[in-house]
Amino acid sequence: MRLAGKTALITGAARGIGYEFARAYLAEGATVALADVNAEAVAQAAASLGPKAVPVTMDVTRQDSIDAGFAEAVSAMGRLDILINNAALFTAAPVVEVTRAEFDKLFAVNAAGTFFCMQAAARQMIAQGQGGKIINMASQAGRRGEALVSVYCATKAAVISMTQSAGLNLISHGINVNAIAPGVVDGAHWDGVDAFFAKYEHKQPGQKKKEVGAAVPFGRMGTAEDLTGMAIFLATDEAKYIVAQCFGVDGGNWMA
Ligand SMILES: NC(=O)c1ccc[n+]([C@@H]2O[C@H](COP(=O)([O-])OP(=O)(O)OC[C@H]3O[C@@H](n4cnc5c(N)ncnc54)[C@H](O)[C@@H]3O)[C@@H](O)[C@H]2O)c1
Repeated sequence: MRLAGKTALITGAARGIGYEFARAYLAEGATVALADVNAEAVAQAAASLGPKAVPVTMDVTRQDSIDAGFAEAVSAMGRLDILINNAALFTAAPVVEVTRAEFDKLFAVNAAGTFFCMQAAARQMIAQGQGGKIINMASQAGRRGEALVSVYCATKAAVISMTQSAGLNLISHGINVNAIAPGVVDGAHWDGVDAFFAKYEHKQPGQKKKEVGAAVPFGRMGTAEDLTGMAIFLATDEAKYIVAQCFGVDGGNWMA
């Protein structure tokens, strides 16, 4: 019960890693607002996790939706101690095929969404006067370039940079901002990634997934459960002296 009495908002929590974080936080005693643009899916997700899971419909690309979503979560939970900025989109294409619409959409969700949710959480935490924890979901993709993944990689590099600057700015209010950089994590998201590589690298469906899993030094792709330990630790008081860092949880895929 390392998060007993704490309240958390997790964006993009209707499925995948965000959903698993919600489940893990609830198991540690927290109350959790699951926020997602997919209203039906987030309602089902929260319902499956019991009465301390609060569904919030929120589109992180719209300021009115962020404002309303944080207000709804705070009203339901009483306060906000922890934010996990997890919502993101992925796309892949050769540079010459990237459209401006795709570029703008990815930056709107992954970069601007992360920034303005951090801002909303920080305003609430500063008003409460007791600090807080903000955890941003970066990626190994933010630490390097990838030939077919230029836009997503750039958004995740932005997440790492924003974690550094916001971390330095907000620690004066007792708010720790840090990031987690997963490697390759199995789930619905990676089914989509696999489909992009099937198209552009002429692979059979499922082949890219097998290849990236075999290439991880640990010996397999990650699971959402592999990430929950770091997400819990960073939200506890034990992590209070950790500021503006990005931690790889990737089975040894990348050394920062
Ligand atoms: N799966 C991986 O291999 C992997 C690797 C590195 C980093 N990550 C990062 O981890 C995080 C979670 O990844 P995942 O695999 O669970 O992804 P996912 O695609 O399964 O889940 C993302 C969730 O975000 C929601 N979402 C999308 N746009 C939104 C918006 N505008 N507003 C609110 N919610 C929105 C989706 O509805 C979905 O529920 C992401 O930030 C991702 O970039 C994932």
